[in-house]
Amino acid sequence: MTYRLSLSQIRKMINRKLSIAPMMRHTDRHFRYMFRKITEYTVLYTEMITAMALKHGDRERFLLKSDCENPVVCQVGGDDAELLVAAAKWIKAAGYDAINLNVGCPSERVQSGSFGACLMKEPERVRDLLAEVRDRVDIPVTIKHRIGVDELDSYEHMANFVEIVAQSGVTNFSVHARKAWLKGLSPKENRSVPPIRYDDVYRLKADFPELWIEINGEVKTWDQIEAHLERVDAVMIGRAAVDNPMLFIEADSRLMDEGKRLSRAQIVRSWIPYIESELEKGIKLSAMTCHMMNIFKGEKGGKMWRRELSNAHQFQTSMEPIFRAADAVGLEL
Ligand SMILES: Cc1cc2nc3c(=O)[nH]c(=O)nc-3n(C[C@H](O)[C@H](O)[C@H](O)COP(=O)(O)O)c2cc1C
Repeated sequence: MTYRLSLSQIRKMINRKLSIAPMMRHTDRHFRYMFRKITEYTVLYTEMITAMALKHGDRERFLLKSDCENPVVCQVGGDDAELLVAAAKWIKAAGYDAINLNVGCPSERVQSGSFGACLMKEPERVRDLLAEVRDRVDIPVTIKHRIGVDELDSYEHMANFVEIVAQSGVTNFSVHARKAWLKGLSPKENRSVPPIRYDDVYRLKADFPELWIEINGEVKTWDQIEAHLERVDAVMIGRAAVDNPMLFIEADSRLMDEGKRLSRAQIVRSWIPYIESELEKGIKLSAMTCHMMNIFKGEKGGKMWRRELSNAHQFQTSMEPIFRAADAVGLEL
């Protein structure tokens, strides 16, 4: 069943204290379905999709989602107002709660389209793009950016960027607390080499208390999450969600009134009907098992669980590897 929510209700839904960052090759619809069974509370993101791909590619497939995924934000890359407006309309029609503009990705491919992190050098342009989308489409618009780019890496530069972009009416800023080098570092290196500067993000929240500021970068534990929440509105977690999905098993009980904490067994059981129905539609087993690898990490039988699931490549149409993996950890399905 789909519900029609007002814009302010949707804003409330995406203004939550915890989210899982957009990650290419990870946060696809299967990942999101599975994580939604781990945590009801956490805001989820799609992988980045370019506005151009939505126009010319297999839009229906790119935007496919399950009803249970919400609150879920669709992240786009683009620098053309008309394309972004069109993308926002499609994203809204597909049932996403918000559209997020990627101003943090430093990859060469993205730079050649003049969007991603290089847009941090053009705050007025970003403001005008976002204002256009906000004016013409009834969907919350948010932004994810870095604390700086290339030599434009002072706090003052970021604050100026945010001040100008906020003139568009956008109030949600997810900030990866490290700068990006557009030349010389790969996207992977740009996620580890430039030092983390949380203080810049804390200062941003102090200077712009009316904005919703979400901090991102290297957060791995609940102690860290709780410490950040003393200083900013929300925490966005990327790699730790992939490496340690069970971090999120505590999210609902910690952050929601009456939020429940499920067991690993309950979570895995809740995935089974979904996996069976996706297999029936012709989806390969490995497209789903790749998101399940770390569920028993550090637990007895966890390595065998992983090994059995890795066999999905040979049994793409059967549940066999999952049953064997469950046996390895003593789980009755
Ligand atoms: C494999 C991978 C893919 C990523 N893809 C995207 C993306 O599509 N859009 C984006 O804004 N950031 C992307 N990121 C960056 C993350 O959203 C996040 O900002 C970054 O990993 C820092 O957070 P973390 O230290 O918690 O991982 C990606 C990161 C990884 C590891």
